[in-house]
Amino acid sequence: MAIQQTILITGGAGFIGSHLTRLFVIKYPDQKIVNLDKLTYAGNLENLVDIEGAPNYTFVKGDITDIDLLKQLFEQYHFTGVLHCAAESHVDRSISDPLSFVKTNVLGTVSLLQTAKEYWKDDLANKLFYHISTDEVYGSLGEEGFFTEETRYDPRSPYSASKASSDHFVRAFYHTYKLPVIISNCSNNYGPYHFPEKLIPLCINNILQKKPLPVYGKGENVRDWLYVEDHVKAIDIIFHKGKIGETYNIGGHNEWKNIDIIKELCRQMDEKLGRQKGESEKLITFVKDRAGHDLRYAIDATKLKEELGWQPSLQFEEGLGKTIDWYIANTKWMEDITTGNYQRYYEEQYEKR
Ligand code: NAD
Ligand code: TYD
Repeated sequence: MAIQQTILITGGAGFIGSHLTRLFVIKYPDQKIVNLDKLTYAGNLENLVDIEGAPNYTFVKGDITDIDLLKQLFEQYHFTGVLHCAAESHVDRSISDPLSFVKTNVLGTVSLLQTAKEYWKDDLANKLFYHISTDEVYGSLGEEGFFTEETRYDPRSPYSASKASSDHFVRAFYHTYKLPVIISNCSNNYGPYHFPEKLIPLCINNILQKKPLPVYGKGENVRDWLYVEDHVKAIDIIFHKGKIGETYNIGGHNEWKNIDIIKELCRQMDEKLGRQKGESEKLITFVKDRAGHDLRYAIDATKLKEELGWQPSLQFEEGLGKTIDWYIANTKWMEDITTGNYQRYYEEQYEKR
């Protein structure tokens, strides 16, 4: 099939990026998808084995802060769209190493913006720089209320501060240089290929292995959970139908206290693994709270529903069930991560060719 246009996805080997890359590669065979990923600890090419041979897919190992590489890729592929997913994404890591978050999330984003601006400057028609961001830029809610697109930014962790900064740069490039941009801010995702440093996959893995389930503080913090495939479907709709210069909030209207999610995981997994009722809950262990732990996130996604017709397709219990089933069926994926084997995959697949 003749390729009509080429899209750059950054961070396509990560959790959300791999679902997004798969969706675009399969759904748009007349578009070429170039996945640029540094393959940090969070990047795993095993997430994409099913599409790595697709004729409209190319993987490039590289860093989004490497402007020479970015220029070379824009020259070579003539991208008309950028879906920017690459980031350092884990709050706990940002607390111990904030600088690497500034480097990738701020400098990396500005490097991409600058390259797109230079390359597209003579013809901005039919171009789009889509920045994938988080609801954490809005800060922390009390018991009531929701984040809307108008909520004032109030980031409180080094991670969310770096994402907020990158969002501001994206808007600055729109206002200053008319770069065609769109931003979406999404709530917590869950689903297959989620790296086991985050709450849900960490607990699934620990329940499987009968290891303690670490609950920060009292487990009262609330997150609004969305199945990752619903997130990437929203991105697809916004990428194709969204209005330039706009921001869209994406969320599941699905708030859960951490402790309740962990109990639900225990309940479903005891059933699926044929364990005694209540067995896995005994693994729950309360540990020291995260520094500056945001209390509650909750998204109002009315704009996206009313303007572009998107809404989540899965109920949480069902999505969680699908996620658990995937982890039970893919123990090798988890083993490769915990043993570090996944980091050798690139070498075996690409460097020896
Ligand atoms: P992830 O940590 O699973 O994946 C990040 C990917 O980016 C990895 O493949 C990594 O190798 C790559 N990467 C990191 N630094 C890079 C660099 N300097 N150059 C090139 N590639 C680099 O993250 P995720 O959970 O998939 O999140 C993707 C995006 O979505 C992020 O921008 C994040 O802020 C945003 N987001 C995530 C969530 C969530 O719940 N996970 C929710 C809302 C928004
Ligand atoms: P996480 O998955 O790290 O996402 P985020 O911090 O971006 O929301 O954490 C989700 C929630 O779970 C958050 O309130 C912190 C909490 N948490 C634990 O209680 N124990 C854990 O081991 C982890 C990783 C997170």
